[in-house]
Amino acid sequence: MILDRPVETPALLLDLDVMEKNISRMADIARRGGVNLRPHIKTHKSLPIAHRQLVRGALGVTVATLAEAELMAQGGIQDILLAYPPVGSLKLARLLDLAAWIHLTVVVDSMDVARPLAAACKDRGMTLDVYVKVDTGLGRTGRSPEGAVELARELKQLEPLHLVGIMSHCGFSYGRQGSEELAEVAREDGQLMVQTKESLEKIGISIREVSVGSTPTCWTGELVPGVTEIRPGTYVFNDGNNVLLGIVGEEDCAASVLTTVISRPNPRRVVIDAGSKSVAKELSSLGPGYGIVKNLPGAVLERVYEEHGVIELPADSPQPAVGDLLEIIPNHICPVVNLFSEYILVRQGKVVGCWPIGARR
Ligand SMILES: Cc1ncc(COP(=O)(O)O)c(C=O)c1O
Repeated sequence: MILDRPVETPALLLDLDVMEKNISRMADIARRGGVNLRPHIKTHKSLPIAHRQLVRGALGVTVATLAEAELMAQGGIQDILLAYPPVGSLKLARLLDLAAWIHLTVVVDSMDVARPLAAACKDRGMTLDVYVKVDTGLGRTGRSPEGAVELARELKQLEPLHLVGIMSHCGFSYGRQGSEELAEVAREDGQLMVQTKESLEKIGISIREVSVGSTPTCWTGELVPGVTEIRPGTYVFNDGNNVLLGIVGEEDCAASVLTTVISRPNPRRVVIDAGSKSVAKELSSLGPGYGIVKNLPGAVLERVYEEHGVIELPADSPQPAVGDLLEIIPNHICPVVNLFSEYILVRQGKVVGCWPIGARR
């Protein structure tokens, strides 16, 4: 992208037109599917972006950390899901300080997490809504569908927690490719979750929310009847992984790292000022390198050191010169955002401002 004024590199560029299109497209998917949209804001950690998601119809937000929850609450966002088990007395105190003035829902996946949470609520005379985390295949936190039913049975006895929903995260969708395969993951995940809800009903436990979602599955628009909520996060920007999965194009990626060529040791090598401190250090199972080098077909960002990135060019490539600017679409945008303190906002090649990135813990 040619910008209308100099920007010191490395910088995190945010194309507002592309981001707004992504926000509207996902809001339309949720509306058409008759489900609530609760975007995961770990991707952007930014109030102006969260507010745009809410204005377009999101009913609340999802967060991974208390710092993210506090940032959103300070910006007036009232309905927050903490999709991460809160463990430890300091975290519980902080969590309940927040829950005293907004509607905070918390995910749990064991009685070891739930009991201290319930005790802390009781001490303060508070109630708290909880979701049970169901592991539908990612193999991270969460219980098997059968284990989730058992946990729900125990939770029902545990005042003052209120079991209101179940939640899965099919992050394993990043291992599949193309909209057909991704729609299949969405179906399998949704069906397991709806069956879990039905198993709960059979033992007299009714819940309100069946919450699912990852960006790749949500972009397919595949929604199993009975699912009530989706929680995509990365969709707001998209990233290299989403392009390699074949569900969005480079033109749908709103965030990129602007970098300067600092060395040309030979015709096949370009060294840039964006290393692991700018593009992060996540490889992709779907393609080579640490991100997509825009407008240089076949170029691979093969190595990253802290402040250096090393790009290998194909034999017939155009030859960027020292001082030229390049743009990298990182494989995974969420950890990249966490490395920058601000977004440089761009509209149609014009730099129009900057927004701070908060809650980087
Ligand atoms: C619990 C949970 N829900 C939703 C998401 C959003 O998924 P994605 O990054 O694919 O948009 C994440 C991302 O890590 C997550 O951990």
